[in-house]
Amino acid sequence: MLWWTEELETGIESIDKQHKSIFDKASEIFNLGVNSNIKEVEKIFIFLMGYANNHFYEEEILMMENSYKDFIEHRRQHNYFIEKIYRIYQNTIEGQVSEENLNDLKLLIIEWLANHINVEDKKYIKLMKSIQ
Ligand SMILES: [Fe+2]
Repeated sequence: MLWWTEELETGIESIDKQHKSIFDKASEIFNLGVNSNIKEVEKIFIFLMGYANNHFYEEEILMMENSYKDFIEHRRQHNYFIEKIYRIYQNTIEGQVSEENLNDLKLLIIEWLANHINVEDKKYIKLMKSIQ
């Protein structure tokens, strides 16, 4: 599942906007190739770092405010994403825009959309909907 569906809607405008933004960015990421301009690639990493810092923070606050029982596991996944993005970024600036670094990035994004947003985020969305 690599496209946005209404099922993913939390009803919280800012969170929905942020989720949609990573789906939109995904097509740009999948189009990156070894000939892509380094500046273009850097812009994508800057977007992803901003996404991670702002969006995860907002989600985590929401979870804490609602005593979400799987908070620690959810946060662990956020931390994993941040760690991976920073590592791939570091490898990219050191080793240029290589096939290997781009594949790592694309795989992380696929995993993220399919497993995190589509599975993990849905769990807390369900909770939010039940208390709205
Ligand atoms: Fe999340």
